[in-house]
Amino acid sequence: MFDHTKYRPFAAIPKANRQWPANTIQSAPIWCAVDLRDGNQALIEPMNVSQKQKMWKLLVDLGFKDIEVGFPSASQTDFDFVRWLIEENQIPEDVTIQVLVQARDELIERTYESLKGAKRAIVHVYNSTSPVQRNKVFNLDKQGIIDIAVKGAQKVASEAVKYPETQWTFQYSPESFSSTETDFAIDVCNAVINVWQPTPENKAIINLPATVECAGPNVFADQVETFCENVTNRESLIISIHTHNDRGCAVAAAELSLLAGADRIEGTLMGNGERTGNMDLITMAMNLYSQGIDPKVDLSDATRITRTVEECTNIPTHARHPWVGDLVYTAFSGSHQDAIKKCLAVQKDDVPWDVAYLPIDPKDLGRNYQSVIRVNSQSGKGGVAYILEHEFGIQLPRWMQIDVSQKVQAASEGKGEMSSQEIFDIFHAAYSSHQAPLAVIDYDIQAKSSDAGKTMHIQLQNQHETFSIESHSDGALEAFCQGLSKHLGVSLDIIQYNQSSLGEHTQASALACVELSVAGHPFKACAQDNDSLKASFMAIITACNQHLNSEVIAA
Ligand code: KIV
Ligand code: ZN
Repeated sequence: MFDHTKYRPFAAIPKANRQWPANTIQSAPIWCAVDLRDGNQALIEPMNVSQKQKMWKLLVDLGFKDIEVGFPSASQTDFDFVRWLIEENQIPEDVTIQVLVQARDELIERTYESLKGAKRAIVHVYNSTSPVQRNKVFNLDKQGIIDIAVKGAQKVASEAVKYPETQWTFQYSPESFSSTETDFAIDVCNAVINVWQPTPENKAIINLPATVECAGPNVFADQVETFCENVTNRESLIISIHTHNDRGCAVAAAELSLLAGADRIEGTLMGNGERTGNMDLITMAMNLYSQGIDPKVDLSDATRITRTVEECTNIPTHARHPWVGDLVYTAFSGSHQDAIKKCLAVQKDDVPWDVAYLPIDPKDLGRNYQSVIRVNSQSGKGGVAYILEHEFGIQLPRWMQIDVSQKVQAASEGKGEMSSQEIFDIFHAAYSSHQAPLAVIDYDIQAKSSDAGKTMHIQLQNQHETFSIESHSDGALEAFCQGLSKHLGVSLDIIQYNQSSLGEHTQASALACVELSVAGHPFKACAQDNDSLKASFMAIITACNQHLNSEVIAA
């Protein structure tokens, strides 16, 4: 039964004088990528060796400096992977590996075995602290939980002494921190800190997990700020945050926790992780980037990131995934397309990005503008015009844009998206495919006295018969229409006419667009040629052909 009375509201901690709402994020946090541990633990099929290696390489290439590589005491694959990293010299000088272990002696011993020979490593020990874990899972009181944490911390410290060649950093997580009474979480962490005795030169990491996201991000920020204000020896600690996404706010909670005093953020690429996932490193880093803050990771090859994560996790990327989904820089809606087209046309390289509907320049993530504007039945003239211009070099006047977009929209109803080629084919069929029965063969210009202008003879073909029309340079097209009108025995009037040069995508250099009234009926046509005058004659002839062909069909 769908019954909300089954649930209780989360009891937020009363907090006076909260500071975090007035703060702003000024710089990137220390990042820690946990794809190879937390992310991996949540997969239907955990990563095999080659997938782990691929993920490792990606994380290193992106610039992550702290990377949690596994849970070596719990998995032989993880143990072997840690050994491979160390023995095969795979860890760059500026990267530190981190491994997770429960606060249990034999597991801690095995963890250190896996790390033998590492130059530097973070040993991350945890135990659960929340009331539900204490009361129902472990059946322990608060002191019992503190004892586990202290014993684990002591073992972590005493094992480290056996491997002096390694520079160790200790990390402790009160697992389920966000569901734990904050004052008790502080007590547990203080007990651990007391064992480790960190200093500002040799800091310990205290990692605060929202193991299950059970309240809003503002509540979490209050918990983190309270923790930072009351924990002992704060200056000797790196406060790390590890949020999960049960309520869809893992990124928000991580961002607010930076305002509340945290230094470091754990997460995974695109948020893979238990249940609804871990905090998404890509989203948070791109959020910073889009605010002009250097995220200290290089996400410029978004396609490599999404494809590698897909290969390693077997989870497809949602097309609307923030920042990196395939459709997130695509506009189908006509008004959006129009606005984007106008803004892109005036956006300069050396001024801050300011384009409607595009929070960042898609090129920064390796996307092109081609994918920005795509056309379906929701699209208007802007999108169609953009595609014809950017992919085929065809710049149409507004009256023509409206007409062609109506034809594209009609064709796309019930069909879905129209490809660029389909749009071009519709354009061609409607305006430039009527090449017979009339055709322009050639024309020549005869100069007369300077004030009399020039006379043109336009040679035409009507099926197999050739004929010519005389026209004058002032009002050449009207004169051409008059001559043609006489020849065909129908009235011809130019309603609209535009001529433009064509872009780099075509052979011809000029495009003429005409709307011609033929025997009182309007016809729109286009023609391309290197000679702009010839293109204009051809466009008029094409419009006449539309009329002649429609008469044949009617007959
Ligand atoms: O979500 C969690 O609490 C964890 C801890 C082990 C850090 O992954
Ligand atoms: Zn986790």
